[in-house]
Amino acid sequence: MPKAELHLHIEGTLEPEMMMTLARRNGVALPYASVEAVRQAYRFSSLQDFLDLYYTGMSVLRTREDFFDLTFAYLEKVAAQNVTHVEIFFDPQGHTERGVAFDTVLSGLTDALDKGRRDFGITSKLIMCFLRHLPEEQAFDTLKHACRCKEHIFAVGLDSTETGHPPSKFARVYAEARKEGFVPVAHAGEEGPPDYVREAIDILQVRRIDHGNRALEDPPLTARIVSEKIPLTVCPLSNQALQTCPDLTLHPLKRMLAAGLLVTVNSDDPSYFGGYVNENFVAIQQALSLTEDEIATLARNSFVASFMTDDDKAAALAGFDAFQARW
Ligand code: HPA
Ligand code: ZN
Repeated sequence: MPKAELHLHIEGTLEPEMMMTLARRNGVALPYASVEAVRQAYRFSSLQDFLDLYYTGMSVLRTREDFFDLTFAYLEKVAAQNVTHVEIFFDPQGHTERGVAFDTVLSGLTDALDKGRRDFGITSKLIMCFLRHLPEEQAFDTLKHACRCKEHIFAVGLDSTETGHPPSKFARVYAEARKEGFVPVAHAGEEGPPDYVREAIDILQVRRIDHGNRALEDPPLTARIVSEKIPLTVCPLSNQALQTCPDLTLHPLKRMLAAGLLVTVNSDDPSYFGGYVNENFVAIQQALSLTEDEIATLARNSFVASFMTDDDKAAALAGFDAFQARW
């Protein structure tokens, strides 16, 4: 099926092979002796446990070429999975903190996205994330960079350590970002409580919730997300790998669909969690015995929930419906 991916951290597509290659290319020391040793380390007990490795892994990314290679490798992979549109998160603070210039990161990403459009016809938008474990002051510094590059950055997001870092911590920087024209989204309800989802909606005024699984614990909140048609970008293999839902047969996705939520399936950090978007579809279909209609709804939702222009969205949905009719 044609589909969009809406919850993908580009730094989370760094495959162990590329990690070792870039470490060698850039003379970066890693705590792993081999590709196998990297893979061995991918057993996570929590979000924080994963994030520690994720930040270690991204330390090999130093040059424009590194960011280009990383992004183009992702696009090549998902072109083969019939992904036609991507909305990609990146974490500039994970790089500027290490002395890599913001413009080095962004130019590598945008050059690869341009080539992905030319070579595969994949359209894209970039979502710049603030790291929520860092102070709001540093998010403001990052926003200043984004304001110089508005033609390349469509939205702002919030990721990293959720517990103890509620959306309200970033109220002022999101107000400023909205004023500057950036569309707000945020990770919420991955590990954090339903109140964090409520804060993301009320205080950050997000247009999409990333994950949002724990909203289901709060029926009035769930009803509100349904009636306001706020999309949730759900990531099954991530939920399994980070132990928020270790047994996928107990995953809430089917209940989310039944509740009328606008949910989509995404890969989050595919290199770390064991699969790209199609592997997420297959795993969750098998675990929950999803029907063909449910699977088609999930794929169609990816266009509905996207930030494409109205015309592009209408064309993508018409294409999807034609595909489904033929199939
Ligand atoms: N959750 C929060 N922050 C992240 C993630 C995630 O799954 N991946 C990369 N940063
Ligand atoms: Zn994520």
